[in-house]
Amino acid sequence: MALVEVQNIWKAFEGHSVLRNVSLLVNKGSAVAILGKSGAGKSVLLKILIGLIKPDAGSAMIDGKDVVTIPRKEMNALRKTMGYLFQGAALYDSMSVRENLAFPLERQVTLTQEELEDRIVTQLRLVGLEDAIDKMPSELSGGMKKRVGLARALITNPRIMFYDEPTTGLDPITSREISYLMRNLQERYQLTSIAVTHDMQCAKIIADNVAILSEGTLEHQGTLSTLEQSQDETVRSFFVSV
Ligand SMILES: Nc1ncnc2c1ncn2[C@@H]1O[C@H](COP(=O)(O)OP(=O)(O)OP(=O)(O)O)[C@@H](O)[C@H]1O
Ligand SMILES: [Mg+2]
Repeated sequence: MALVEVQNIWKAFEGHSVLRNVSLLVNKGSAVAILGKSGAGKSVLLKILIGLIKPDAGSAMIDGKDVVTIPRKEMNALRKTMGYLFQGAALYDSMSVRENLAFPLERQVTLTQEELEDRIVTQLRLVGLEDAIDKMPSELSGGMKKRVGLARALITNPRIMFYDEPTTGLDPITSREISYLMRNLQERYQLTSIAVTHDMQCAKIIADNVAILSEGTLEHQGTLSTLEQSQDETVRSFFVSV
């Protein structure tokens, strides 16, 4: 069953066309990586899926609801089933790690202080950072920030995860660690996930299926090994250049 069903999405900014007839299906429990060069429209596509940008045409069904036309109240309810890791991790700099993790929970559910602390500690343990609970973001390395971002995104038990460049700015080894962590968490919670990235190594680790966003379209979709064997110029250049 498709949990995410994007159909014929078009988007232009001031006459400059970014997405042209983009369609994508993501089955429940599967992970897709959308690859594309800088400026290809990856972040725009993700923002459309989470309802932050309205497309000019097309639909994006998530769990049977079209986020393009959904009323705000229903969108807020749907958002509770979604988790995001934005480009740059985007932790709240003035809050400790504990407070960063508490933030999305406090907005969604009422928990006692103990329950809250328990959820936070459990989540940090999952990403291997329970010792960092009292630290401020400025005291963390880039990889640690991503881990905290992951823990924060998952603390509300989402069913669908959206990742925007989860490994950007990390060295290759840390990138690989974060990618494996994403893969493990996805399997553990049977998440449906969509990641946009230009990191092929990351895509290989985290995704069952890959799609390439080029010239505003998502023409090439399939398993990584299928695409790897493709003779298409765009696909080939992608595999060679990264
Ligand atoms: N809110 C906006 N207003 C106007 N133009 C925008 C807006 N958001 C994105 N764009 C334009 O859309 C195009 C695609 O941007 P997008 O951020 O999706 O690229 P990307 O594939 O995520 O790139 P990167 O890999 O560098 O993050 C760019 O030309 C950008 O300038
Ligand atoms: Mg981007």
